Amino acid sequence: MNTKTIATFNPDLPVHMTFSEHDWHLLAQHWYPIALARDISEQPTATMLLDMPLVIYKMADQLVVAKDACPHRGVPLSLGHNDGNGIVCRYHGLRFGENGKCNRIPAHPQHKISERFHLKTYAALEKYGLIWCNLTATSDAVANIPEMPYWEHTDFQQLVCPSVDLNCFAGRQLEGFIDVAHFAWVHPDTFGDPENVEVPDYMTTETTYGFEADYISSVGRYPIGTDQRGKDGFQWLRHFEISLPFTATLTIHFPNESKQVIMNAASPVSARQTRLFAPICRNYDKDLPIEDAYKFNLEIFEEDRLIVETQKPEYLPLDLSMEAHFPADRSSSMYRKLLRKMGFSPIFAA
Ligand code: FES
Ligand SMILES: [Fe+2]
Repeated sequence: MNTKTIATFNPDLPVHMTFSEHDWHLLAQHWYPIALARDISEQPTATMLLDMPLVIYKMADQLVVAKDACPHRGVPLSLGHNDGNGIVCRYHGLRFGENGKCNRIPAHPQHKISERFHLKTYAALEKYGLIWCNLTATSDAVANIPEMPYWEHTDFQQLVCPSVDLNCFAGRQLEGFIDVAHFAWVHPDTFGDPENVEVPDYMTTETTYGFEADYISSVGRYPIGTDQRGKDGFQWLRHFEISLPFTATLTIHFPNESKQVIMNAASPVSARQTRLFAPICRNYDKDLPIEDAYKFNLEIFEEDRLIVETQKPEYLPLDLSMEAHFPADRSSSMYRKLLRKMGFSPIFAA
């Protein structure tokens, strides 16, 4: 992969950048999920967001997300361990506790600890069973995290699928999630129908957070072969809400007022790596094993893998003249148009 090394030292930028600096600064203004909340403990977990290596740990009930580099000599804190009072660095034992503050320098126990030794921390919080982070927000800023319909409703069951790592750009992945013409071709083994290929017209509407689309068709969403519900000409409404840049929720209206909401939150690890998070809520089949729902949804995402990991170019062309479009692409055309309007490069992210 083409990585650029920042020539001038800037502690707020990643050392190796796969994005242009222009796109990076725009992307860094948004919130992204970086981990499943259930995977986080007092011991350090390493991850990456927008090329920035991050360490996540807990101190009592406090969540700390920081740059995964010791301020002393740059060793990843994720190599260390939490001794109960903070994360102890593997190299010289500096220890970092609440708010990422250094509370011990073993080589000089009597010295006052300068602020230079504190970790660079980031705004972070838990929502929809995920840890969300923003690389530029102040810790007291209002977290502008996409809404998930029905998540808080008491009659809905909440599921948080294991994350999926994909070798593709988040923009390509998100566009695949809102694509309604590929069900018959990519998902015949899960929910698509190879005989049902035509795409009825649908509309998109711009909103404050991005846009929404209502797609009505006869393509069902029960697992193939296991259920006959909704087979008799039922018209399925798929309501998409796309929160720019990389999150979309899909509310599928099933027969008998049943609903399932899937959040597709594509986290941009780098310009060519995406960690996909998918919280789900539903008001039916709540007695079935959660593992079956995880398995079914992961199968669907795995079917998409071949497509999103092989598309060329790997970036998302925001200039609409660069690829061919048909009417069923109404959502993806809107997606590209609005990303361009936000100021992202026409070749996003080359
Ligand atoms: S590099 Fe972390 S304590 Fe020296
Ligand atoms: Fe798909």
